[in-house]
Amino acid sequence: MKTAARQSQFWLRSGGSLRGEARVPGDKSISHRAVMLAAVAHGKSQIRGWLAAGDTEATLGAMQDLGARIERIDANTLLIDGGALQEPPRPLDLKNAGTGIRLLAGLLAGQPFPCVLDGSAQLRRRPMKRITAPLQLMGASIESTDGCCPLQITPGRLQGITYDMPIASAQVKSAVLLAGLNADAPTTVLQPGPARDHSERMLRSMGARLDEDGDTVTIHPCAELAPLDIHVPGDVSSAAFLLVAGLLAPGSELTIRGVNLNPTRTGLLDVLDEMGAETSLTNLGEQAGEPVGDILLRHSALQGVEIAGETVVRMIDEFPVLMVAALHAEGETIVRDARELRVKETDRIAVMAQELRKLGAVIEEREDGFRIAGPQSLSGGQVDGHDDHRIAMSLTVAGLSSAEGATITDAACAGDSFPGFAETLQRLGARLVAT
Ligand code: S3P
Repeated sequence: MKTAARQSQFWLRSGGSLRGEARVPGDKSISHRAVMLAAVAHGKSQIRGWLAAGDTEATLGAMQDLGARIERIDANTLLIDGGALQEPPRPLDLKNAGTGIRLLAGLLAGQPFPCVLDGSAQLRRRPMKRITAPLQLMGASIESTDGCCPLQITPGRLQGITYDMPIASAQVKSAVLLAGLNADAPTTVLQPGPARDHSERMLRSMGARLDEDGDTVTIHPCAELAPLDIHVPGDVSSAAFLLVAGLLAPGSELTIRGVNLNPTRTGLLDVLDEMGAETSLTNLGEQAGEPVGDILLRHSALQGVEIAGETVVRMIDEFPVLMVAALHAEGETIVRDARELRVKETDRIAVMAQELRKLGAVIEEREDGFRIAGPQSLSGGQVDGHDDHRIAMSLTVAGLSSAEGATITDAACAGDSFPGFAETLQRLGARLVAT
């Protein structure tokens, strides 16, 4: 969704506190799942709080190409009249959306028509064997291009399998579960760690039968899903940028309202707590079958921390911004078991280390993580977002916490998950100019 209207550069002046209240846009993971599942449900679904951002709009466009009847009430409200999908007139373009292409491949593997799933140059570099392998085990006829997209699907019958997932990935788990809807027998996924469970929650709310036992989940074939009526909660992965920016800026006091607090997503909150952050949760409730609440925080002195194992899975998208927090924390921060960061939109370990070094940071890159000895003071400079939304926003937080401020080029990609990111920071008091 690169249009002239998108801001491509952020200029940041350092200093100043962040104060007041904010809401973050709807959860990206839930928005992707909602538009896909509503499109195949029997009846009319309503999705409020829809994330109108680059990645999710790409999935919405693909569903329209598959014949889904989607009416837009306003930017964040969709009415979807679900039913059978149809053969698309062209290859589906998922742009930069890894969740979009991987989950859709699972949903489409058992459909009675052929299709091609493709995306941007960036998406074409990301590994797809992780989903084509289990889908092929189910009997799907799905071919990648040297392990990447475009993916070519031809119609086939799916059988239920038991899949021992080699990596803790919600995208892989969800692709297999969605294919399992159309299989001839139950499909079981064994997960090595607690990958986010939004698909399971949503499918169950739509009448699908799922059995869970620890890290094992079984889906039963389901011919008819009931429609959805949900209000998507705020994305905790977007809240993470405001949270770390507020913790680092002296004098800050912030409330971030209506955030999804699903325990498979809140690793960063636990880690910041261990680092000494003054945060608390209030107004706890439930929305769209997910735990939600408000996050309160104030500027805090942070300590270094060690992160490994299950916590890594529960905060996988938050490591770029955690790196910024670690630079300002007293003592050593060591991250292990985070090899997956190397196959996100970019190699997030290498790219964050490379860009933060331009601001004077010293970071020891490791194959499955990194080591940072803090506190370090960041100078000013120019850094680049690499067309990776979480890199661009993490560097924005780094710029705000630097001695002289920073310029972030290729910052437009922030809109892939957090439209209005710059405006939200400005409103809270950040000295930021977006052009
Ligand atoms: C997502 C799962 C994660 C995450 C991505 C969104 C999802 O990827 O990094 O941003 O919505 O299922 P993996 O499943 O590959 O870890």
